[in-house]
Amino acid sequence: MFSFFLLILLFCSINFVSTATPYRVCQSELGTIKTFDVTGCTTAPCKFVKGNTYTMNITFQSKASSITAKVSIHGIIAGVPIPFPLPDPDGCKLGIKCPVNEGDINTASLSLPVLPSYPSMSLYVKIEIIGDNKNQDYACLKFPATITSGSKQLQQFVSWKKGKFFEMLD
Ligand SMILES: *[C@@H]1O[C@H](CO)[C@@H](O)[C@H](O)[C@H]1NC(C)=O
Repeated sequence: MFSFFLLILLFCSINFVSTATPYRVCQSELGTIKTFDVTGCTTAPCKFVKGNTYTMNITFQSKASSITAKVSIHGIIAGVPIPFPLPDPDGCKLGIKCPVNEGDINTASLSLPVLPSYPSMSLYVKIEIIGDNKNQDYACLKFPATITSGSKQLQQFVSWKKGKFFEMLD
């Protein structure tokens, strides 16, 4: 009987894990990430097919107040963070209720078009939500991704080692 419950528990937890996008948190003094979801990505690395737009939802709880909330995205390629320019990085226009108060739970919803001009490659995507104090984040996360022209091309561009998608971050 006990092992039966254990099996159910295991099944539920596997089920739960498979519905969210795998990520790692980075230093964020001002808040805690509750959930993170990228369109169609439940296993690492996230596959971004050129010509498509992907939505990234970050739900976080704040530990401090702030008038503003800015979103910053970097692509980390071979260890080098390259800024990804957002048309409007104002998090208050991306679903965050501003001003942000201590204890608030907000969801930032980012739309990321993966343009045909992007190179096919594997990289880490780093997303930060930054409060008034530019050195402190409400949320900071990184996740492995692969940009491809289509599903057929996928294999040749995946340079990740199986099961070691987060290793290069540490
Ligand atoms: C992100 O949030 C929006 C608005 O609530 C929702 O419509 C969309 O399905 C969400 N996308 C993901 C990938 O969770």
